[in-house]
Amino acid sequence: MTRARLILIGPPGVGKGTQSALLEERLGVKPLSSGVIFRSEIEADTDLGQLAKSYIDRGELVPNGITIQMMVKRLRSAEVRNRGFVLDGFPRTVRQAEALTEELEHEHIELTGVVSLEVEDEVVVERLSGRIGCTKCGEIYHSAAKPPRREGLCDKCNGPLLVREDDRPETIRARLRVFHENTQPVVDYYAAMGQLLRVDAVQEPERVFAQIVAGLGV
Ligand code: AP5
Ligand code: MG
Repeated sequence: MTRARLILIGPPGVGKGTQSALLEERLGVKPLSSGVIFRSEIEADTDLGQLAKSYIDRGELVPNGITIQMMVKRLRSAEVRNRGFVLDGFPRTVRQAEALTEELEHEHIELTGVVSLEVEDEVVVERLSGRIGCTKCGEIYHSAAKPPRREGLCDKCNGPLLVREDDRPETIRARLRVFHENTQPVVDYYAAMGQLLRVDAVQEPERVFAQIVAGLGV
């Protein structure tokens, strides 16, 4: 199996988690979402979780130093080395992108591709307002676009479904502001390196996925 090493960049709610799951299914790569890792630290009530929560609840970024350290540790794990990875939500600042480049160069690892998922802000607000996620296995649903078969319960594992704390309308707007200010420059960073695949993410998840697969040739 190909050991792909991918990055998905895009605004909140564009479908990074949805596409990571499809890429895992197809390529066997390990999804690494900084947001998912932070939420599991919050759930376990660790020191890192408590600190991250104070930023996440306001829609702000967790400081670079902590985030980089946390992600580099995961990238060095045996599972990620064996399976390859799809990064979702990291890097989110130019500082994080530079740190990732240094880490990959140091480990002699080359990226397979960097995908920028692109939609208008209004689409994001609509998607996030209807999102529900499984608290047990992480499966993502949408009340209109992808409803679960039984209300409040996960199709895959029967776990309880919940709306995320940071999906309140005012927090969604703050996250979008942060994206344009801090993460759009990361898209430019990879474009300048000649590594960027831009994908129109307005279509259905399966069509977005087909574009990613065709664009990357994976
Ligand atoms: P994170 O968890 O990464 O959140 P995010 O980037 O805001 O993205 P989301 O998870 O909200 O959306 P997504 O793109 O995964 O979309 P999804 O597939 O769920 O980060 C959360 C917070 O943690 C940040 O705000 C920050 O505070 C902190 N953080 C994380 N990483 C950090 C970092 N590197 N540095 C500093 N701080 C960091 O889809 C959304 C909805 O749309 C779902 O309901 C889905 O079913 C639906 N949907 C998906 N695709 C489609 C489609 N094509 N058509 C219709 N509906 C669709
Ligand atoms: Mg996500």
